[in-house]
Amino acid sequence: MKKAFRLLLLLFTLLFLSFGSTTVFAQDYEPSIGQQGKDVIWVPTPNELIEAMLDAAGVTPDDFLIDLGSGDGRIVIAAARRGAKALGIEYNPEMVKLSKRNAEKEGVSILASFVEGDIFESDFSQATVITMYLLPDLNKKLRPTLLDLKPGTRIVSHAFTMGEWEADQTIHKEGRTAYFWIVPAKVDGFWKWQEGPEPVTLRLTQNFQKIEGDLTVKGDTWPILNAELRGDQINFTWGNQNYSGKVDKDDIRGMVQSQNGDIEWTAARTLQAEK
Ligand SMILES: C[S@@+](CC[C@H](N)C(=O)[O-])C[C@H]1O[C@@H](n2cnc3c(N)ncnc32)[C@H](O)[C@@H]1O
Repeated sequence: MKKAFRLLLLLFTLLFLSFGSTTVFAQDYEPSIGQQGKDVIWVPTPNELIEAMLDAAGVTPDDFLIDLGSGDGRIVIAAARRGAKALGIEYNPEMVKLSKRNAEKEGVSILASFVEGDIFESDFSQATVITMYLLPDLNKKLRPTLLDLKPGTRIVSHAFTMGEWEADQTIHKEGRTAYFWIVPAKVDGFWKWQEGPEPVTLRLTQNFQKIEGDLTVKGDTWPILNAELRGDQINFTWGNQNYSGKVDKDDIRGMVQSQNGDIEWTAARTLQAEK
């Protein structure tokens, strides 16, 4: 009987030790800078730069930020501290668990969540802000998906550019650089509206957020000037008239300002130039 009790005690002690050490091991998971990740190693973004990146993107409680390759969760947690809903997508399951614990410690786990996943197989179309610290080639690979996000979505990348898609703003902080973009609406092509009795055609050519074009009325064509596209907001000047509007897929709605006052302006996408 005594022997059986001793054996049972030994068994419980062994079980306790093994469970105990597993728990301690899981909680003590310490990532090391430079450790292998799926497509890129883990190197954390310094906190001062994170704040500058979130400032550039103007993150508010209305935002939903997604960090692509979220590491230990610091960008997601910083966004949640500003009241934004934030999600980290991270391939390494240990980093995901660590991020969740970090968010709990910071008291932001209601707003900050993390999923284990591959950024190249994840849907991040609901984001209003995307952050990333990847590699130039990975940024380029993601570029078509990023350009298909809702116009106006803000993107901030630590260290790496997006190739020919020039940044709208460059952020410098303590020897580090980050780049900021606003996803431009797709406006390339022809647009038409009536100016009094006259039909008007606007031809736009677009290179990412850069646009230029010309306007045809009564068979005469003149270039537009000061053309700007920022997210879904378009502005240009033609003669003494300033056009400004919001692009919504195949429509632009806004105002034309001139010496004669302001009038409403609505343009519709058309397939080809009308004579
Ligand atoms: C340079 S770290 C940046 C971490 C964090 N975004 C930051 O700025 O502090 C890149 C992270 O991406 C993760 N990663 C690499 N390839 C990935 C992939 N295909 N899908 C999801 N995460 C990935 C790595 O494990 C690593 O944690």
